[in-house]
Amino acid sequence: MVISCEPRVGSQPLEAARDTASPNRNLAPVTASLDSEGRLEVGGCRLSDLARTYGTPLYVLDEATLRGTCRAYREALQQHYPGPSLALYASKANSSLAITALVAAEGLGLDAVSAGELLTALQGGMPAARIVLHGNNKSREELALAAERGVTVVADNWRDLELLAELAPGFREPVRLMLRFTPGIECHTHEYIRTGHLDSKFGFDPDQLDAVLRQLQDCRWARLTGLHAHIGSQIFELQPHRDLAGVMADALQLARSLGHPVADLNVGGGLGIRYVASDDPPSIDAWVRTVAEAVVSACRERGLELPRLLCEPGRSLVATAGVTLYAIGSRKEIPGIRTYLSVDGGMSDNPRPITYQSQYTALLADRPTAEASETVTVAGKHCESGDVLLKDTQLPPATCGDVLVVLATGAYNASMGSNYNRIPRPAAVLVGEAQAELVQRREQPEDLLRYDVLPARLAPVA
Ligand code: LLP
Repeated sequence: MVISCEPRVGSQPLEAARDTASPNRNLAPVTASLDSEGRLEVGGCRLSDLARTYGTPLYVLDEATLRGTCRAYREALQQHYPGPSLALYASKANSSLAITALVAAEGLGLDAVSAGELLTALQGGMPAARIVLHGNNKSREELALAAERGVTVVADNWRDLELLAELAPGFREPVRLMLRFTPGIECHTHEYIRTGHLDSKFGFDPDQLDAVLRQLQDCRWARLTGLHAHIGSQIFELQPHRDLAGVMADALQLARSLGHPVADLNVGGGLGIRYVASDDPPSIDAWVRTVAEAVVSACRERGLELPRLLCEPGRSLVATAGVTLYAIGSRKEIPGIRTYLSVDGGMSDNPRPITYQSQYTALLADRPTAEASETVTVAGKHCESGDVLLKDTQLPPATCGDVLVVLATGAYNASMGSNYNRIPRPAAVLVGEAQAELVQRREQPEDLLRYDVLPARLAPVA
């Protein structure tokens, strides 16, 4: 369904200084603006109208911001890396047919980690040649699906190789294989989302690299096309990525010296975004330039021919494109302690605050520039005291029925959502050029009963 939203005369940009070249440095989508009545719109659609039409909670995704981040990666790679390159969208950040189709149209590839993400990618139109399958415990079925469709498999451990060897008699052609290893690089981010340090469940230990490369030397069912490492997520420092280039170039040198014509070097993702005003992530251009220059100089130092440079951004591609709309319901004032505003979603549509103590920025859809004169805590509707989306945040006085907009929710919200308390998942709309299109239907309470089975002996007696 396409809803047309009249463009409003007098629309003005929400933020005076907006970094359109690097949307991950903005708090709001690039198209966020105020209409003539001072209400917030994104993609030319007034947010409170979207809330009324589609209900709340509602995920809103701005097409221009998403296309902008895709282009920023593509152009920065072309500008700063003299060899071939490709950015792969880490679809764990937000996997849907619509996002896949947009990312594919922008010329990116995609990283999937399960049969679900893989099927979404293939059905969303992502060419198999541009997809890689990750995972530290891939099932036989997931590996078979990837091999059959011509998707590159990133082997994470010996078990992947054993399973592939078992499946190999059914392969029409050798499977394209990359090897993931733990680079032993520390970075400053939440410990749950650090992956590069040695004590990690992901990838071959660097000490095993020699053995696995030798084992693959006379393997006829696989072609080793690349090496992969990923150091973590929501990273603001650039140095760990410089260090990574050296570690990966050493691995590339080893692989090539053992006769593997490895062409691809995949440095993972990890670039952070701005969730609150005090966050100061590097731009996409600065991140890509750092990575590209480090890979070029590490290869030159070792006399290596330049590989194709792959990277796997997730958060920095989609987070800022997304906002979530909630309806404010009850208000509880505890004198001298705290004022709670409860919204109609919470940890089931955004589990990041309760999981990582993540901070967010919120606005009122229809009074985004009113003075934020109150300190309130925005709580979700789940039966959990920790179900708080924003703690002690500043907002204009808000009442029941106001629409709250939480910014930068495009990554790791929908994809990490749950049905806790049997709350249905929100709908999602894509906005752009004053049009809104439904891209994910709202789940209904009845949908949640679909997989329940009531044994006949327990059925209620009529
Ligand atoms: N490649 C690999 C192999 C990954 O494991 C990840 C993220 C990425 C790429 C993308 O990283 P990004 O560019 O998004 O930082 N749920 C957490 C984030 C977990 C990241 C997992 N891996 C959060 O909400 O902060």
